[in-house]
Amino acid sequence: MAPLALNPSQERIAALLRVRLKEKRLAHALSVTEHLADFGPELGLERDRLITAALLHDLCRNFEDDIMLARAAEYGLPIEPIHEARPILLHGPVAAEEARRYLGLTDEDVYEAVYWHTTGTPGLGLLGRALMVADFSEPLRKYPEAAETRAVLAREGFGAALRYMAQAKQGFAEKKTQFHPETRAFCDWVMRGCPPVPETD
Ligand SMILES: [Fe+2]
Ligand SMILES: [Fe+2]
Repeated sequence: MAPLALNPSQERIAALLRVRLKEKRLAHALSVTEHLADFGPELGLERDRLITAALLHDLCRNFEDDIMLARAAEYGLPIEPIHEARPILLHGPVAAEEARRYLGLTDEDVYEAVYWHTTGTPGLGLLGRALMVADFSEPLRKYPEAAETRAVLAREGFGAALRYMAQAKQGFAEKKTQFHPETRAFCDWVMRGCPPVPETD
């Protein structure tokens, strides 16, 4: 795996992560970044945008519930009943807004990827789909589906890994009482074939 070289704005994000995130969450964020920087360029995605999206994705993951809801309201984000029950679902949208408002983020694809990384959404761009696969399968993830996703990625390419992840999420959903409808719609869209992506060898 190539060592991470951060540009100055990415260094600023990483410094913020070190202040905001608990130890395990910080290790996860950096692991997602390394993983995505490793396979993302083969999909034709720019390394800088991959690294920025991955560093940002869990920027607000350790917010307390009341802070998460307050920030979402302040930023004018849609707050649905499922968010009131599980404010953690807002950590992607809140992070995307913070990055745009306070960290100089102007790249709409990075904004979209960070915004939707938790649930996905039908029509999600390639950067967003790649971030979801990296988030799901980075090497520090303990569930067996993470290692299997990496194996599928290495063996059959990104499209197959994305479909494997969608199937696994659908499997997880059967055990949950609340499965976000957006996640269900995203997984259905992926399984219907979503836009084809360049396959890695
Ligand atoms: Fe997250
Ligand atoms: Fe994450």
